[in-house]
Amino acid sequence: MNIFESHESTVRSYCRSFPVTFDRAEGSLMYGVDKRAYIDFFSGAGALNYGHNHPYLVEALTSYIAHSGVVHSLDLYTRAKERFLEQFVQTILIPHGMDYRLMFPGPTGANAVEAAMKLARKVTWRTNIAAFTGGFHGMTLGALAATANADKRAGAGVELGNIIRLPYDGFLGVDTDSIDVISALLETPGSGYDKPAAIIIETVQCEGGLHVAQSTFLQSIEALCHRLECLLIVDDIQAGCGRTGSFFSFSESGIQPDIICLSKSLSGLGLPLSMVLIRPEIDRWKPGEHNGTFRGHNYAFVTAAAALEFWRDNTFATQIMANASFLRSRLKEIQTANPTTISEVRGRGMVQGLVCRSASHGAAISKAAFEAGLIVETCGPQDEVVKLLPPLTIDHAVLDDGLSILSSAVCGIAKNERAA
Ligand SMILES: Cc1ncc(COP(=O)(O)O)c(C=O)c1O
Repeated sequence: MNIFESHESTVRSYCRSFPVTFDRAEGSLMYGVDKRAYIDFFSGAGALNYGHNHPYLVEALTSYIAHSGVVHSLDLYTRAKERFLEQFVQTILIPHGMDYRLMFPGPTGANAVEAAMKLARKVTWRTNIAAFTGGFHGMTLGALAATANADKRAGAGVELGNIIRLPYDGFLGVDTDSIDVISALLETPGSGYDKPAAIIIETVQCEGGLHVAQSTFLQSIEALCHRLECLLIVDDIQAGCGRTGSFFSFSESGIQPDIICLSKSLSGLGLPLSMVLIRPEIDRWKPGEHNGTFRGHNYAFVTAAAALEFWRDNTFATQIMANASFLRSRLKEIQTANPTTISEVRGRGMVQGLVCRSASHGAAISKAAFEAGLIVETCGPQDEVVKLLPPLTIDHAVLDDGLSILSSAVCGIAKNERAA
């Protein structure tokens, strides 16, 4: 038994699927202590969109450390935070025509979601937040209440309340438009649904099974929020920071959320950093009303500011979309070759995956791929979707190699199935 098994809590999870001790990581590759290389299609669950140890980000951080830049500062003004704010306004907000205040909650995605929901309740004086079937928003009690996954919810130990659940785009099948049902529930007098403080939505349900909300659905949800005078919160923690092609995952739809949650790849290097974007009119926090020790860490500000260089023009977005269409076509090929094992290709941009007909095949494919040198995780309520999250900076050849490993893993499972 190794030190992890003897002393680390049983709560550990990803290491059970990928049971290797990792030592180094560079770009799209992770290396075990035995120096074996693994292609990384997991990317820290979306926290490593620019790959591991991107040299430009490492250089920014090491030079900041070398000149004794402030490390910890609560929410004091620092040069590192100032540079990040300036860069974010110049590179992201102004070009997108967006006007938002930036709030730094604790360092995790769940911290951003908690802050967003708390602010929505405070601003509207309403208690319920509307969240979707398949939604994932984090593991702290408020965020967990908004999360749909039954296993995750079961760990709460208390009642998870003040959430109403709405059907996500496509949840009710092709013949029923979710928006009609949502509107009927929330706008019919006597439906029993109180008006919510906010509707919280992911544009792609990255944990919930790679379901994608169409632009028209997002636009209808925005219009509904206006009619109900409730806030629209987009949880862009996993789908944002370029994962679907543009910096924000909702840009294509043209919606203007009241609150946007970012985290994961915001710092670029994998350092913990979360941010809540708030429309100025609803930035009604009292000073210190949502406090915390680690709100905006300076090392993360330094690398986050450097990572924004990727977004100075359209070059990076164009590269992401080229990789994404290659990914789509290769996944479609895998599906076509294995129709009895794979039912569908789902997702958008650089978060796409294979839906397995049998739930147990998700884990089996991930295991076989790992044995052949590819790290790829599963998602969905029963882990039935093999989910690909390659770094956005991945070389075409490495992406191709990883997809070949995945293809062999799927073919192997399909063959075993036929033999059984
Ligand atoms: C959409 C979304 N929201 C919130 C979270 C929670 O983030 P964290 O794990 O950093 O608390 C996640 C994590 O996977 C996520 O994907």
